[in-house]
Amino acid sequence: MNLVVRRARLRNKEGLWDIGIEGGKFKAVERKLSAEGTKEIDASGNLVSPPFIDPHLHLDAVLSVGDPRYNESGTLLEGIEIWGERKKFLTKEVIKKNALEAIKWAVVNGTLKIRTHVDTTDPTLKTVEALVEVREEVKDLIDLQIVAFPQDGIFTFPEGADLMRRAVEMGADVIGGIPHNEFTREDGVRDVEFVYDLAEKTGSLIDIHIDETGDDQSRFVEVMAKESILRGMQGLATASHTTAMHNYNNDYAFKLIGILKRAEMNMITNPFDNSVLQNRTDGYPRRRGHTRVDELLARGVTVSIGHDSIMDPWYPIGKGSMLSAANLLLHTAHMSGYNQFPQLFDMITDYSAVTMNLHSDYGIEEGNTADFIILDAKDEMEALRLISECLYVVRKGKVVARSTPAKRRFEWGPGKAELIDFKL
Ligand code: FE2
Repeated sequence: MNLVVRRARLRNKEGLWDIGIEGGKFKAVERKLSAEGTKEIDASGNLVSPPFIDPHLHLDAVLSVGDPRYNESGTLLEGIEIWGERKKFLTKEVIKKNALEAIKWAVVNGTLKIRTHVDTTDPTLKTVEALVEVREEVKDLIDLQIVAFPQDGIFTFPEGADLMRRAVEMGADVIGGIPHNEFTREDGVRDVEFVYDLAEKTGSLIDIHIDETGDDQSRFVEVMAKESILRGMQGLATASHTTAMHNYNNDYAFKLIGILKRAEMNMITNPFDNSVLQNRTDGYPRRRGHTRVDELLARGVTVSIGHDSIMDPWYPIGKGSMLSAANLLLHTAHMSGYNQFPQLFDMITDYSAVTMNLHSDYGIEEGNTADFIILDAKDEMEALRLISECLYVVRKGKVVARSTPAKRRFEWGPGKAELIDFKL
């Protein structure tokens, strides 16, 4: 074997396991593997998991906070304004440099698959050009999917639809939209229909920024569900954000969730951005900014978590940590029940693999590509509590990142020093 990991704790399995890897694939997962590895890693009873997946990130905007100015109101609309100012002087080199740096951060934090939205509303499409090049440059490190994303709308300016088509020709894998940003309700419906037409024609997946507002009258996700069902495109579409769903009346939300389930829609919630961007005009009481995560999951709809932003005009902080995003959602979505910890972990691993249509080669099973992480935690609850370091990040059987947890020395009185790791 090229690599053997010993004494690994695996999700949904009792006891400790050895994992053998050869030729970049998992070759054996056994209680006690007799074969030796050219390289061996002792997982010491820590959780060994498939890598984290970030199914929603804006890599063309990462690490740009404060340039040209900071978002003072903290609103989505001021963020879009600042991005519009930035686009005028942005170069392909800057986009690539920032995207590559953020990808390194994500990898060190255990993420090996990212779906990035890339703005298509600049006529030069340098954003798309930059990310297509980045996708090629990092293909041995991470799987990167590119969404053609019309930040300013498809029908708010004459070239919008053409730019979307060109972005797909240039290599975007997924078709995006933004119906709630169009001028009228009717144009919002056209936005969704345009996305489905283009996806049907090109055989692409769909991922639409949709109903990202506190407005309880924003109801475009029902249009997506209808198109998925009537065109026989179940399972191919993702609705990102859907924060308006938080504010729908309960009868409508109940009916809607049933249709989303029939359409096999994948939902993505983005706790970092939407906990601070939404409902800023509320005063008090102030509604929360995320979709109905627990109700969707309870009805069998796939919901995963996106990071969305890392230091950009919409969200000024962040470091590419999916465990931090899940930790935040645990609080804002009331998901601290004992059985909700593994569910939160699913939302940054297995459920995101389904959303990105990568699930057939994902997971620690013989024959799959040997992508995995070793966490400094014994289980999902501990990883979410501590926002644990990834001790090892392994891509196709090769170690691509290592972290050493901080050493904290408690010193109270002579001879009483001890190391504190916050574990029981
Ligand atoms: Fe987004």
